[in-house]
Amino acid sequence: MNAVPLPGSVLVTGGTGFIGGHLIAALSARGVAVTVLSRSPREQHAGVTYIQSLDDFQAPEGRSAVVNLAGEPLNSGRWNASRKALFRDSRVNMTRDVVAWCNAQRYTPETLVSGSAIGWYGHRGDEILTEVSAGASGYSHQLCSDWEDAARAGLADNTRLCLLRTGVVLGADGGPLPEMLGPAKAGLGGPLGGGAQWWSWIHVTDLVSMMLWLLENPSCSGVFNGTAPNPLRQGEFARVLGKVLQRPAFIPLPAPVARLMLGEFAEEILLKGQRVEPARVLAHGFQFEFPSLAPALTDLLG
Ligand SMILES: NC(=O)c1ccc[n+]([C@@H]2O[C@H](COP(=O)([O-])OP(=O)(O)OC[C@H]3O[C@@H](n4cnc5c(N)ncnc54)[C@H](OP(=O)(O)O)[C@@H]3O)[C@@H](O)[C@H]2O)c1
Repeated sequence: MNAVPLPGSVLVTGGTGFIGGHLIAALSARGVAVTVLSRSPREQHAGVTYIQSLDDFQAPEGRSAVVNLAGEPLNSGRWNASRKALFRDSRVNMTRDVVAWCNAQRYTPETLVSGSAIGWYGHRGDEILTEVSAGASGYSHQLCSDWEDAARAGLADNTRLCLLRTGVVLGADGGPLPEMLGPAKAGLGGPLGGGAQWWSWIHVTDLVSMMLWLLENPSCSGVFNGTAPNPLRQGEFARVLGKVLQRPAFIPLPAPVARLMLGEFAEEILLKGQRVEPARVLAHGFQFEFPSLAPALTDLLG
């Protein structure tokens, strides 16, 4: 593939979040001018411009791009109708606004990398899922489908669209890993439910590298799975985490208890999963720094 330099300017929605924070640090380190859309930035990074409305920013002359990561967190509190409306509005409506903004720019952004998640595939048991697999209906599939469709709908042809179906993102400072550490260190990090459900994970460093790689490779467009090439069952994930922490991981959390504690979040995200392969990035030659879980966890927790 013929890679090109990163664009000189990147607008990031969700740039104040866990993944966004890692992304803006990587972009800034590569000399890219970063603009972050935020409702209220709590912590501001030097050299990054923060805006509260898309109307406050115009794509500069020259090469620019957008990475669209905003989304109400799924793991904070029980799911109910009003939270589900927030999940949707913060992703689908935000993405529509981003597309309208791209189309309205005098200097059109060359690339839009827009968020999605492996929940798009629905719950598919042991089936190996690549970007050509179909999605099974259900709440997560519908949410991700609407999120992706909002990005596709009406985006002008001169902006290249990459949709990143992201898996369970592992980082020391955000995502699910810090929440798993307390129980795991107490020896309570055994299998969730039966532990047979697949967890397709990715080290946050590899996810950010993948985003930069998509920005650098003009021949890449469409859907990409943002997962490591070695997904594993949740019970095996728990065993590897226990080994890295040198703690036993045999006390299970039974499915009914998880449902009682966490409601629909447990049912949709924790007790069922997807066995995803990042077939397209591998076919295009993307190199993972952390293809396997044990070295990824050792790096993050070591
Ligand atoms: N972490 C994972 O394992 C994972 C896995 C798959 C997909 N994803 C997706 O990747 C994206 C980023 O994930 P993350 O872990 O970095 O999330 P995060 O740390 O919770 O950050 C979410 C970002 O979205 C913005 N946001 C939150 N609620 C919003 C709302 N109601 N309206 C508008 N903006 C809102 C926040 O910006 P302000 O508060 O500054 O406005 C924040 O920067 C999310 O869309 C998430 O669904 C994450």
